[in-house]
Amino acid sequence: MARKIIIDCDPGQDDAVALLLAFASPEELELLGITTVGGNVPLRLTHRNARMMCDIAGKQDVPVFAGCAEPLVRPLQTAEMIHGETGINGIDVFEPDTPLQDEHAVDYIIRTLMDADQDSITLVPTGPLTNIATAIDKQAAILPKIHRIVLMGGAMREGGNRTPSAEFNILVDPEAADIVLRCGRPITQLGLDVTHQVLSTRDRVDRIRALGNPVAEATADMLSFFDRYDTEKYTSKGAPLHDPCTVAWLLKPGLFDGKDCNVSVETQSELTLGHTAVDFWHVTDRPINVHWVYRVDADGFYDFLIERLARFGEDS
Ligand code: BDR
Ligand code: CA
Repeated sequence: MARKIIIDCDPGQDDAVALLLAFASPEELELLGITTVGGNVPLRLTHRNARMMCDIAGKQDVPVFAGCAEPLVRPLQTAEMIHGETGINGIDVFEPDTPLQDEHAVDYIIRTLMDADQDSITLVPTGPLTNIATAIDKQAAILPKIHRIVLMGGAMREGGNRTPSAEFNILVDPEAADIVLRCGRPITQLGLDVTHQVLSTRDRVDRIRALGNPVAEATADMLSFFDRYDTEKYTSKGAPLHDPCTVAWLLKPGLFDGKDCNVSVETQSELTLGHTAVDFWHVTDRPINVHWVYRVDADGFYDFLIERLARFGEDS
């Protein structure tokens, strides 16, 4: 039976590819809805971008909701310098046919979980954790309904990508991350330690483009833009494809290695705000709250992504 998931995102080229990978995998994943949050770009663009992905993939029936525009207690920091002013620079933007639902994303999450069986829904956040934390805060009775939270965020060995200590998703809303990390439900966390291994090299982007279907072409176009920033910054051979690691972990966990440990987030310090303190060697007695993923078979990841993106050409 397909695993029921909600993707909570802030597209972002890499969030967009995470959505496409989920769309391509209906046997394993039942995507109940997409909730959006202010993050890489403001909320009005993240929900537009998510709906564009539904149009591009022919998945207009997946409901898309707009959630929190601002973090819990701080002003929003965005990342146009990485993603471009639209959030998905690399493809032309358009007003999608996929409608925006009237319901607020947080109310949708609460309603869906309250109506669900115990331990039945997997949440997949790929942006700041504001929507998820707000839902937990508003209705704690949703917690037993959550099977697992599989999130992109944080860093240990890699250090930060937005400050020396902090990864972007956690830095934008550290108070929300703190609520989620302490929520008591199983969490899988894919931070920069693993996502920086998954690089969109020229060769890999060319293989995606060569699939020749419109979804693969849109993916290649987005990744070609996304590539520019990180290649200059990290002198690596391509930009890390952060967010699709979450969906890939759900679909093919054997590609990844991880370890159960405690992860806590810094919410006070000016210097290290948003830092994820990962107790990898169990040097504290803090409780295990996270399966921390630290390694991936990157070639296997891209082979798998390419195999799934090829599916969009099969029924057209
Ligand atoms: C994360 O921040 C965003 O820029 C990406 O979409 C990803 O979710 C990486 O730090
Ligand atoms: Ca994201």
